[in-house]
Amino acid sequence: MSQNSLSDHPMRQVFRYLRPFRGEFVAACTWSVLNKIFDLMPPILVGWVIDSVSRQPPQWIGNVVGTDDPLTLAAFLAILGVGIFALESFFQWRYQLGFMSLAQKVQHGLRMDAYNHIQTREIRFFENHRMGETMAMLNDDVNQLERFLNSGFNRLLQLLILFVFCGFVLFSTSWQMALIGMIPMPFVLWGSIYYQSTISPRYRRMRETVGELSSRLENNIAGIMVTKSFTAEAFESQRVAIASENYRQANFDAIKLSSIYVPLIRTAIAFGFGGVLLVGSYWVLKDHGILTVGELVLFAMMIQRMLWPLTELGMTLDEYERAKASARRTFGLLATPSTIVDPPSPKPLGAVQGEVAFDDVVFRYDHGPAVVNKLSFTIKPSETIGFAGATGAGKSTLVKLLLRFYDANQGAVRIDGVDVRELAQTELRRNISLVSQDVYLFHGSIAENIAYGEPEATREQIVKMAKLAQVDDFISTLPDGYDTIVGERGIKLSGGQRQRLSIARALLKDAPIMIFDEATSSVDTETERAIQENLLKLTEGKTALIIAHRLSTIRHADRILVLKDGRISEEGRHDELIGMNQTYADLWHIQLGDLAAPRPSQQGVEISASN
Ligand SMILES: Nc1ncnc2c1ncn2[C@@H]1O[C@H](COP(=O)(O)OP(=O)(O)O)[C@@H](O)[C@H]1O
Ligand SMILES: [Mg+2]
Repeated sequence: MSQNSLSDHPMRQVFRYLRPFRGEFVAACTWSVLNKIFDLMPPILVGWVIDSVSRQPPQWIGNVVGTDDPLTLAAFLAILGVGIFALESFFQWRYQLGFMSLAQKVQHGLRMDAYNHIQTREIRFFENHRMGETMAMLNDDVNQLERFLNSGFNRLLQLLILFVFCGFVLFSTSWQMALIGMIPMPFVLWGSIYYQSTISPRYRRMRETVGELSSRLENNIAGIMVTKSFTAEAFESQRVAIASENYRQANFDAIKLSSIYVPLIRTAIAFGFGGVLLVGSYWVLKDHGILTVGELVLFAMMIQRMLWPLTELGMTLDEYERAKASARRTFGLLATPSTIVDPPSPKPLGAVQGEVAFDDVVFRYDHGPAVVNKLSFTIKPSETIGFAGATGAGKSTLVKLLLRFYDANQGAVRIDGVDVRELAQTELRRNISLVSQDVYLFHGSIAENIAYGEPEATREQIVKMAKLAQVDDFISTLPDGYDTIVGERGIKLSGGQRQRLSIARALLKDAPIMIFDEATSSVDTETERAIQENLLKLTEGKTALIIAHRLSTIRHADRILVLKDGRISEEGRHDELIGMNQTYADLWHIQLGDLAAPRPSQQGVEISASN
C-alpha cells in the first residue's frame, strides 16, 4: 500500500521536505508570478505608446494623466516602463534567491536523511552494491531534485502564468485575432513533446557513451603500470578509439535532430505571426473598429512571447520526469529498512567479561553454500585464541558474525552469554576492537587516523599506541610527523605501515574484546615479533582473537582453532597441534620451509621437493 502510493507520487514526498519552509515557498511562488506578469508588460506598454502618439490613447491613461497631449502621455508611459522593468528585475532577484535557498535546504535535508539512512544499512547492502551505484543515489539523485526545485518547478509555474495572463490579455483585446495567432499552438506543442521523446534516448546514449569513455580513460591511466609492463599500449589505444568513436557517433545523432528542431518550430510560429499581421493590418486599415495600431503591435509581440516558451515545454516535462525518477529512487532507498536492526528493548551488557561463544552456527552468504557449518566454540574471558585455516576457510566471516555485520542463519553468537541479536549494535561494537584484513585510512592526518572514533584522545596516548604498534619510528621520520596527511594528497604508505597504523587505532579504542584479522600479514617477521610482544602485554586481561595466515603469529596463543570447511578441524596449543600431525602441522612445516624432508602424510599433502 505505502509502496504503491510511493511509486504513484514520489514528487509529493519531495514537497514534504518543503513543509517546514512553507512561508518561504509561498513567497517565492508569489515573486515568480509577479515577475512573469511584469515581464509580459512591455508589449502592452508599447501598444499604449503607439496608440498615444497616434492620438488614440486608451481612455484610462488620459484620465490618470489628466491630458491628451501625446508627448506628456509618452513621457508618463516611459516612466511607467522604467518602473515596470525595475520591478520585474526586483521580483526576479527575489524569486531566484527564494527558490535557490529552498532548493538547497531541501537538498541538505534530503542528503542528510539519505546518508544517515545508508549508514544504518547492513554490510550486505554495501557488499552487494557497487560503490558507484550508492554514490549516484547520494549525489546525482539528490542534485537532480535540487535542480528541479531550483529551476524546473519555477519554469512550470511561469509557463502556467504565461498562458493564463497572455490568454486573458489577447482574448480580451480581440478574441478573433487571438484565435488566429494561436493556430500554430497545437503544432508547436506536439512538435515540442515529440522532439523531447525522440531526443531524450539520444541524449541518454550520449551520456552513456561519454561515461564509458571517461571510465575507460580513468581505468587506463590508473593501470598504466600494467599496460606498460604488458606492452599493451596499442591494444589500449584501440579500446579508447572505439569508445571515443561511439561517443562521437552518439553526439552526432543528437545534434542532427536538435539542430533541425528550432528552425522547424520557428517556421510554425511564423504562420501565427504572419496571420496576425495580415488579418490585423486588414482590420486596422478597413477600420472595422476591431483593432487599433497599438493593439496590432501588442498582438504581434505577445503571440511570439507566448509561443516560444512552448518549445521548452518538452524539456521542462522531461526534467520533471527525471526528478520523479530520482525521487522514486531516493525515497525507495529511504523506505528500505536495514535487515540488521536493534531489538525493541536491547539488553544492557554492563561491564564486559569477554566471553565469546559460537553455538551451532550455520551461515551462508545469500544463496551460496554454508561458509560456517554448525560451528561451536567458546572463548573464555581474557583468553588469547589463534585462528588458522586456508584462505577462504571462513575466518573473516566469523568476525563479521561476531560484530553482527551479518546474522547467522542458524544458531547463535553470544558475548558473555547474551545473543548479539539481543544487544544494541552500538553497545556490541563499542566493546570490540577490530583490526580488519582490509585496512582503510581516512583522508586526514596520521594522528586523526589513529584517534578515529576517539576524538578525545591526547597526543601522548596516540604516540604511545603508535609505539606499541611499532610505527612511531616511521612516523618520526616524516617531516610533519603525526600531522602528516595520509591519502591522496599525502604520503604513500606501504601495506605494512598501513597495517601498523590500524593496529595503533585499534589499541587506542581499548575494548575488552580485540580482534586481529591478518593484521600483520604485510609486516616483516622482525617487526611482527616486536608487535606481538607488545600485544601480549596489551591483551592481558582481554579476550583476543588473532587470525593469521602466517602461523608464527599465533604460535604463542593460549589455544589455536583450525578452521576447515566451516568447522573446527583441530584445536589445541601449538605443540599439541604439531604433535597431531594434521592440517596445522602440514601448514607449519610448509611455512618453515621444511621442504627438504617432507613428512609422510596421511592426508595426501604431497610436496615435491625441488631443491
Ligand atoms: N560478501 C560475500 N558474499 C559472498 N561470499 C563471500 C562474501 N565474503 C566472503 N565470501 C566467501 O565466503 C568464504 C569465506 O570467506 P572469508 O571468511 O573471507 O575467508 P577467510 O577470511 O578465511 O580467507 C569464501 O569462499 C568467500 O569467497
Ligand atoms: Mg579473511
